[in-house]
Amino acid sequence: MSLAQSAIETMKKRQSVRTYAAEGIKDSHLMQIMDYLRNEENLVGPFGNKGRIEFIQVTNNVSDKGIKLGTYGFIKNPQAYLVGVTTNSKFSLVEFAYIFQKVVIMLTEQNIGTCWMGGTFNRNSFEQEIQLTEGDFIPCITPIGYPNQKQRVFDKALRYVVKADNKKPWEKLFSDSEFNVPLTKENAGSLGLPIEMVRLGPSASNKQPWRLLLSSDRKLCHFFIEHTPNYSSSLGYDMQLLDMGIAMCQFELACKELDIEGSWIVEEPNIPLPNEQTEYIVSWNMM
Ligand SMILES: Cc1cc2nc3c(=O)[nH]c(=O)nc-3n(C[C@H](O)[C@H](O)[C@H](O)COP(=O)(O)O)c2cc1C
Repeated sequence: MSLAQSAIETMKKRQSVRTYAAEGIKDSHLMQIMDYLRNEENLVGPFGNKGRIEFIQVTNNVSDKGIKLGTYGFIKNPQAYLVGVTTNSKFSLVEFAYIFQKVVIMLTEQNIGTCWMGGTFNRNSFEQEIQLTEGDFIPCITPIGYPNQKQRVFDKALRYVVKADNKKPWEKLFSDSEFNVPLTKENAGSLGLPIEMVRLGPSASNKQPWRLLLSSDRKLCHFFIEHTPNYSSSLGYDMQLLDMGIAMCQFELACKELDIEGSWIVEEPNIPLPNEQTEYIVSWNMM
């Protein structure tokens, strides 16, 4: 499975899918997924951290090992799950999410539905299914299958509750040279589309914690996170760091497609931050 189509178009059409068709995943798709996950290159993040993604096929939500994999009714008719495994540190979470989002985009391209899940699934049941080594944990999973054209009332209600279709406008997310100066699409130049892809990405509870700041010389695009206080503290890891890896993936895929060359660096700029919740993560360095 490779990005044969436009990643940008795929990112524009992606939506979380919680209701799947009863139809099983075609063998040709299964083979593509397996090939993708077997290719080590696909599992390496931008700074060399390696992620692990397990594929688990299910029938009526029960795995081949006979374990019932629960999502508290959030997901209907999943045909399989991809289960993420990584260690609980800042950059392993960020990089893992980058890797996982790439898989999500590849699947979306094949019209296979996904839904990032960090909270509403029974971690115990998934932990029983896969072997975890010391220090590893499951940051997220996604069900997969073909989307059922008819969404359940539940899905619509959930989208309404988390305001899934309310993507924050540019001025709330992106700044020009310093915080509090909004960046407009027109002034973003060639990075307009990569930045727009960050805006359209999925995020935990659709909180959209990414804050980008484009340097005045247009050479650096800094990625910050505005943490939602105590967002996932009960889970023991910072789920919003996953949102940052997703943002990096969306941004980089768009740059690749547009032949915008650059690389990721971690070099905090000397810029006053807008509030205590805002933390620097990474920057895109234009070639
Ligand atoms: C890190 C992360 C964790 C998420 N966890 C859940 C979850 O536990 N349950 C769920 O139903 N959706 C979950 N979502 C999906 C978000 O609610 C969804 O991405 C957001 O509402 C935006 O909608 P969209 O993906 O259709 O653009 C998660 C998304 C992300 C990125």
